[in-house]
Amino acid sequence: MSVEPSQGAGPAIENLLAERRTFPPDPAFTARANARAAIYDEAERDHVAFWERLARERISWSRPFETTLEWELPFAKWFVGGQLNVSYNCVDRHVENGLGDKVAYHWIGEPGDTRTLTYANLQREVGKAANALLELGVRTGDRVAIYMPMIPELPIAMLACARIGAPHTVVFGGFSAEALAGRINDCGARVLITADGGYRRGKEVGLKHHADEALASTPSIEHAIVVNRTGRGVHMVDGRDHWWHDIVERQSPDCPPVPVDSEHMLYLLYTSGTTAKPKGILHTTAGYLLGTSFTHEMIFDLKPDDVYWCAADIGWVTGHSYIVYGPLANAATGIIYEGAPDTPTWDRWWQIIERYKVTILYTAPTAIRACMKQGPQYPAAHDLSSLRVLGSVGEPINPEAWLWYHEHIGRGRTPIVDTWWQTETGMILITPLPGVTTTKPGSATFPFPGIEADIVDGDGRSVPFGGGGYLVLKRPWPAMLRGIYGDPERYRQTYWSRFPGMYFAGDGAKRDEDGYFWLLGRVDDVMNVAGHRISTTEVESALVDHRSVAEAAVVGVKDEVSGQAIYAFVILKAGGEPTDALAVQLREHVAYVIGPIARPKYLMFVPDLPKTRSGKIMRRLLRDIAEGRTLGDTTTLADATVVETIRENTGRSEE
Ligand code: WTA
Repeated sequence: MSVEPSQGAGPAIENLLAERRTFPPDPAFTARANARAAIYDEAERDHVAFWERLARERISWSRPFETTLEWELPFAKWFVGGQLNVSYNCVDRHVENGLGDKVAYHWIGEPGDTRTLTYANLQREVGKAANALLELGVRTGDRVAIYMPMIPELPIAMLACARIGAPHTVVFGGFSAEALAGRINDCGARVLITADGGYRRGKEVGLKHHADEALASTPSIEHAIVVNRTGRGVHMVDGRDHWWHDIVERQSPDCPPVPVDSEHMLYLLYTSGTTAKPKGILHTTAGYLLGTSFTHEMIFDLKPDDVYWCAADIGWVTGHSYIVYGPLANAATGIIYEGAPDTPTWDRWWQIIERYKVTILYTAPTAIRACMKQGPQYPAAHDLSSLRVLGSVGEPINPEAWLWYHEHIGRGRTPIVDTWWQTETGMILITPLPGVTTTKPGSATFPFPGIEADIVDGDGRSVPFGGGGYLVLKRPWPAMLRGIYGDPERYRQTYWSRFPGMYFAGDGAKRDEDGYFWLLGRVDDVMNVAGHRISTTEVESALVDHRSVAEAAVVGVKDEVSGQAIYAFVILKAGGEPTDALAVQLREHVAYVIGPIARPKYLMFVPDLPKTRSGKIMRRLLRDIAEGRTLGDTTTLADATVVETIRENTGRSEE
């Protein structure tokens, strides 16, 4: 079986040249760096002892743990016997240590309103919100769903859940009512925390409206708490819905943190796999807290006076680990920006960096490419000299974007950390360490200390340097997922059965002669659109859900800005008219069923689809057609004329 990377193929000349350049650390940076080369050796000598030492030093325990790791493949338990509270570790202990007046978050609303929350403020707000949840009957172990814009109440709500040991499931605000309902029903959440709406690109996004639609089919939900963000009138259901400013504001700020076991569920986060049903990725308490906080401090070289900005949405894992839990455990000062980078103009981010003297910026290649497209005059107009570390996450960063980031944002001075990880891994696993690692543009370089990653061929044999294959992980790590909610068998099947004894990440990768890892994109039916994971099957079922559609096949195609774009091939039911209006309607239908991020950019009506004799759609051929390439092997096609018919059909509709 050959690896079929969905990205990274066909490098241009500049690409090759860029890949050959290396960027050794600046000695002045190395002299002050948090990370030392020696931690690789310490971790390699005994990775369990390494994590044990860190867990004892970094976490404030209510009860110390006895066993560092119990590993019954594929089920891990870390720091067994210990008890702790995540909100205590992220907030209270900093206040006790005299950091009450330190800013936890500078928040900037898209319309220009701002708020500042110190650690002492955060402690009060979290205590009140936790008491409100208790008043509504939420108890340790009960699930709480959160569907909010990027406002301070979002991390407050997450920490309030953690304070009482109620696992949360945050659903990205861009998801549809149906997606929200599906997640609530999968985990049986009792309470939903939401907002009337939020701002995005100058428009109000009506979250409560979607929530109401979702709550029509979620019998487990007893109450909703609604933050007043936009002030737009919303319908409140008597007895079920409560305004945040009523129920939270009147509570006492004192709410003792509930100590929970190390392996208590901290949260669920749903992510797309290769089937139509998203998986509830399960993260627990102590290992996750350790993994996120330690990587955050080492990889971003966090110092007490840094102003750190992870420009992701808290609704994704990057926000959970590197806006909320990791940074707060480290008493960092962070930025939260509600809106879009182009609103009101394309220099919004650079204004924020200048104004708040941001020192660390962590973002995604798609955002960098979007800024690149607008031109360097936007960042050039601002003083970005405060920046000292830049990070990238979410998809492979092409060398051109890496170099642009280095030159126009980092002004040639700052190290760049290209960090590979997943919702499932919880923490960054493959990354440079600034001050230690010599970087190559486009390479995530090496596994983090304590992590054993490898690249294997189809039979699970390690591929020598210079070769490519499948990325696998060969030992457990503290922040790893503990399972898929309610489905241990699917957990085993998805991640641990492809190669016995190894975690299969679903990514293709190669290693160069120096042992550097180069990620090549997904090898399964998962697309990566602007850093969002979307399954082809999910979009296909959304299309087939429309009354005019008989069958659909979806592939991801290369896109200059978003990395991949969604291309849908649609067969209509008998009598269906393939009009432009219907194409628009079908796209909207997908946005309605899943969310706007899943709206296909291209849609083509076709009379038939290329299938193997066993009836499996040949996506590789569809990708060839979509990207205008000469066709690969067609010998396994059941009907070889199908492809020609599709090719002759030029009626592609584009967004
Ligand atoms: C991709 C986001 C290349 C990869 C944290 C992975 C990357 C998926 C990188 C996880 C990177 C993430 N280089 N590819 N630095 N970071 N990916 O779960 O395909 O939203 O499997 O987690 O994003 O996406 P997820």
